[in-house]
Amino acid sequence: DTLHRAPSGHLGPSYKPTEEQPSATISTQVKLANVTILPQTPQLIALLTMIRDERTNRADFIFYSNRINRLLVEEALNHLPVLASTITTPVGRTYAGVAFEGKICGVSIMRAGEAMEQALRECCRSVRIGKILIQRDEETSLPRLFYDKLPEDIGERWVLLLDPMLATGGSALMAVDVLRSRGVPEEHICFLNLIASPEGAANFAKKFPKVRIVTAFVDQGLNEKNYIVPGLGDFGDRFYTL
Ligand code: PRP
Ligand code: URA
Repeated sequence: DTLHRAPSGHLGPSYKPTEEQPSATISTQVKLANVTILPQTPQLIALLTMIRDERTNRADFIFYSNRINRLLVEEALNHLPVLASTITTPVGRTYAGVAFEGKICGVSIMRAGEAMEQALRECCRSVRIGKILIQRDEETSLPRLFYDKLPEDIGERWVLLLDPMLATGGSALMAVDVLRSRGVPEEHICFLNLIASPEGAANFAKKFPKVRIVTAFVDQGLNEKNYIVPGLGDFGDRFYTL
């Protein structure tokens, strides 16, 4: 039951009294150790409001979803391991810092996941990107795998798996199966997602508890066609063809 309640919060700068801050629906909080939900800031909720709105045209949908994708990538990078790295500054002093450990690779679940590649490239210059084409059957909602093309050494990389929509979880689970079959350990995968359903997040956490999920929002649930509600409709259509 707690999963299906839509929580509401006051949003607005903290210098405003609470009664002057607008009330908005914020993400459901799920008690799953591997799920990180972005902080429900006024900025994030405003961006989500834009892309959820049925009146938002394609140009704005692309622009505002890219902004959220960038926030997701920035957060996901915090989940990658770092090593101590002490450097010397131009004034001859040392600074005890850190450096990323290991190599990374993006993998997009086509088609919608490709929309997240730009944000990844903005943060990780010349990052390798693998592709997995999985399409959900419109009648049964079951995923079908058509194609994959992944770097040879993907088993030695940390993988940022990209798909903006996590509905039943079928597509993302299938993608993780493909990655595991190529030698990627579960704990080396971080799934970046814009909107998840509570059941999708729970299915995912149950099957792959070591895969991290970084999402902007956990929504109320799924409708009879297994679309996320309130959701934003068909992400791929709105980004590419509508
Ligand atoms: C959408 C979405 C996910 C999947 C989510 O893709 O991008 O991949 O459905 O649903 P699930 O969690 O129930 O599997 P779709 O298959 O519609 O293809 P598209 O990316 O070409 O729009
Ligand atoms: N795919 C989408 O694009 N949207 C949904 O709500 C579910 C699957």
